[in-house]
Amino acid sequence: MANFSDVLHKWQSLRPSPDRDLDQFWATEETVKKRVAYIGGLINDRTEKVLFLGDDDLTSVALCMSRSGLKATVIDIDKRMLEFIGRIAESEGLLIETYYHDLRNPLPKDLFNDYDLIFYDPPYTTQGIGAWLARSIEASLSGGKNVDRKSLDRLSRKKYVMCYGYTDRGVERGYAIQKIITNFGLVIQEKRKNFNEYHEAKAINSLSDLYLLSPTPHVNIRKIDGERSRFYTGRREDIK
Ligand SMILES: C[S@@+](CC[C@H](N)C(=O)[O-])C[C@H]1O[C@@H](n2cnc3c(N)ncnc32)[C@H](O)[C@@H]1O
Repeated sequence: MANFSDVLHKWQSLRPSPDRDLDQFWATEETVKKRVAYIGGLINDRTEKVLFLGDDDLTSVALCMSRSGLKATVIDIDKRMLEFIGRIAESEGLLIETYYHDLRNPLPKDLFNDYDLIFYDPPYTTQGIGAWLARSIEASLSGGKNVDRKSLDRLSRKKYVMCYGYTDRGVERGYAIQKIITNFGLVIQEKRKNFNEYHEAKAINSLSDLYLLSPTPHVNIRKIDGERSRFYTGRREDIK
């Protein structure tokens, strides 16, 4: 099987250009490989499918190339990206399915309710982080009987790998995000400073951190369920 660098090179001329209105800045190839190694370390016998909440960096492609038989689902609002990933998957024989959805809105519960491993590099605003955290809780904990939803066995299987960046002069932003994470009933299991490097993204010195998050018994699934029907459905510019 070809490696990720070859595939990236082969498809580069067809890769959709970054849409700044959607906060798209490509992570470097090296970063995508580091992510694959990190996510790979969280995969176990029970991991059937990995969920990506947005994926303009093609981390899903690199991950599925690294493990034959692994399945991934990519949700994105950018139809160009979904089509591109779909074409690569078909041509390279990767088990990636794509799903068009605006992640500011709740996910359909019948399709997304019990994922164990979720990766995302969300828009770096409090609303963006809040929406993506809510989506990851929905996509991982909304299925099954109420009594089982917060069982320690189930909670302990759920891992959310999130990218988020701020500079040393912007620690206030890091603090705000930490509070949002706590308010959702999640805990930061690990944080790797400057893990991700981007082409451009000057506002964050082209770097961001990697967070490993887990739900705790304080996770408020009922609140998320309630918000499914009224999470904001703002216009595109509300992402910023
Ligand atoms: C937010 S961007 C990357 C942000 C990251 N901070 C960066 O600078 O690289 C990650 C992915 O999320 C997708 N995305 C942005 N807004 C979205 C939305 N409302 N719903 C679904 N996907 C979205 C983008 O198309 C992209 O593939």
